[in-house]
Formats: sequence, structure tokens, C-alpha cells
Amino acid sequence: PDNLRELARKLGIHIGTAVDVTALAEEDDYRRVLNREFTHITAENAMKWESVEPERGVYNWEGADAVVENARRNHQRVRGHTLVWHNQLPAWLTQGVESGEIDAAELRAILRDHIKKEVGRYRGKIRAWDVANEVIDDDGNMRQSIWLTHLGPGYIADAFRWARQADPHAKLYLNDYNLEWDTDKIDAYLNLVKQLQAQRVPLDGMGFQGHLGIQYDYPGDFPNVMRKFTDLGLEVAITEADARMVLPVTPEKLARQAEFFRDMLKTCAANRRCTEFTVWGFTDRHSWVPEWFEGEGAATPMDENLAPKPAYTAMLGVRRF
Ligand code: G3I
Repeated sequence: PDNLRELARKLGIHIGTAVDVTALAEEDDYRRVLNREFTHITAENAMKWESVEPERGVYNWEGADAVVENARRNHQRVRGHTLVWHNQLPAWLTQGVESGEIDAAELRAILRDHIKKEVGRYRGKIRAWDVANEVIDDDGNMRQSIWLTHLGPGYIADAFRWARQADPHAKLYLNDYNLEWDTDKIDAYLNLVKQLQAQRVPLDGMGFQGHLGIQYDYPGDFPNVMRKFTDLGLEVAITEADARMVLPVTPEKLARQAEFFRDMLKTCAANRRCTEFTVWGFTDRHSWVPEWFEGEGAATPMDENLAPKPAYTAMLGVRRF
């Protein structure tokens, strides 16, 4: 295959990327490569609560609409990211809860209205929603958040039920990071999935974010971990793949990064229930890593000039089995 869109067709999976909506609007080369290479796109920030409802009852759908419209015009599917999360919540919500102005009953109504509003707006246009993002800690406990504190753990089942009611077409996912190793976090998620299934909650899939660093070991038991979830009947996706490195970039680090991307894509391609492999940004020109990891970067398959790196070429070489 000459590009990732042809590879996706060959492998029978979606290959996607997170989209920076400012770059989408302002950079012709970014938009051209995005639409040549990818059959699936995720708004990196534009569908998050702080973006779509910055003031209570005041909505800003511009970025989210741009992603959905780009997908329509370029025969791409869309992952909705994300409905209930502890992070990037609008200040009016977090401050309203902290001040006691918003009590538990009103908070539950606010969450229900947010989900129905956002999922309803894109009804029929989203292949999969990250309904609940990062709800379990690395040590396997439910993550502390205003949702858990004020609504109890039932907020997760509620969110899935409200999302299903608002769009019966969308696959509904849990999504988290550090799920590529067999840890307490995996066991906690397997228990949560079984609980939700026992309650007949409309849960369709598990998203493995796949944020790796090449200075660490590659998670070799990723295929087995993924199978623990598909054995429960879920579909799965790798939703935010990147492989950062301690700068400066060297040929050896690029070669190791290529193996990381190749092996993650192979893990998805080799599991029949893995539907999507999405990178968290396709170019080092727009990657979250440098702002968040001091001295690290170069985490994506293309460089700042959109030239393919060894990771890109290694992915083109992946076969289904
Ligand atoms: O757009 C504003 C800009 O107007 C303002 O001047 C600037 C300075 O404050 O902030 C800009 O917003 C930033 C936004 O990225 C867009 O660049 C936010 O501060 C910053 O917090 C935000 O970071 C995002 C991060 O999530 C926040 O948690 C990253 O872009 C995004 O890649 C990252 O993505 C998350 C996934 O959603 C969930 N999984 C982990 C992943 C990495 O953290």
C-alpha cells in the first residue's frame, strides 16, 4: 500500500488520527495529508466539555462541526472524544460544584443534558464515542472526580444509557491509558466491564489509548491484554497511539519508535475485534507531548514537515496475520 488509507482497506480496520482543529482550518498541507492518509478522525480537544460549553448553556460547536464536516467530505468515520471525564471540564461546572451551588441532583441533570445535547447533535455521524474516559486509577481504584464524589460509581452506567438513548447508531466505549500491560488497572477494568454487562448497560467497546515512551520497555503482553476484553464480547480500538522519545532525535531512536508503532498496529490487525487504530496526532508539528513531557517529543509517525518517519514506513509493512 502507498499510504495508510490503502493499508486500512487492506487490513480491514480504520486507521485514524486525532485532529487539531486550528491546523485543520489554517494549514493546507496538514489538511491535505490528513485526508489522503486517514479513514477515521478524532477531535483532539474540540468535542471536550470545556470546548463545547465554555459558559453554562452557551455552546460552541464550531471545532466539532468542522471535524464532522471534514469527515463527511472525505469519507472518514468519527470517534467522539469524550463525554464524561475528570479533565478539561468548563470552569462554571467545576466551580459550581466546589462552591456547593450545584448539588448532586443538579449535577446529574447537567451530565444527562450534556450527553443528550452533544450526542444528539451528531446522531448518526459518530462511529464510536469515548463515553467515559480514564475512570480508573493506575492502582485499580475508581478515579476520584466530581462525578464519583457526588454521583457515586453509578454515573458510568448512567452515561452509557443516556448516550445510547441519544444515538443508537454509535458504538459506546470506555477509554483509558496504561492498559497495554497486565496490571491491577486491567483487572479493575475487567471487573467494571463485567458489572456493566451484568446490569445490561449498553457498553460496546474498550479503547486502549496507547501512549508509549521508547525509553521504556515495549508492552509485550498487549495482545493478551486486548484479548481479555474481546473474550468478553467487546470490540476494541487503539485510540491515541504515540511513542515519545527523550530528545534529541537519533536514527536509533527513530528505528525503535518504528518498532513500537509497527507492533501496536500489528496487535490491532491480528485481533478480529479490533476495529480502529488511531494515532494521537500524525505529525510532530502538532503533538501534545512536548508541552507535557519536558525534554521529550517526536512522538508521531511524521515529522514537522509532514515527511514520513521510519514509524510510518514500518506501519505500511504490517499484514493482517
Ligand atoms: O486552546 C487554548 C489556548 O487558547 C490557550 O491560549 C492555551 C494556553 O492555556 O491553552 C489552549 O488549550 C490547550 C489545549 O490542549 C489546546 O492546545 C490546553 O491548555 C491544554 O490543556 C490542552 O491539552 C490537551 C490535553 O489532553 C489536556 O488534558 C492536549 O492538547 C490533548 O492532546 C490531550 O489529550 C488527552 C486525551 O484527551 C485523553 N487521553 C490523554 C491525552 C493526552 O493527555
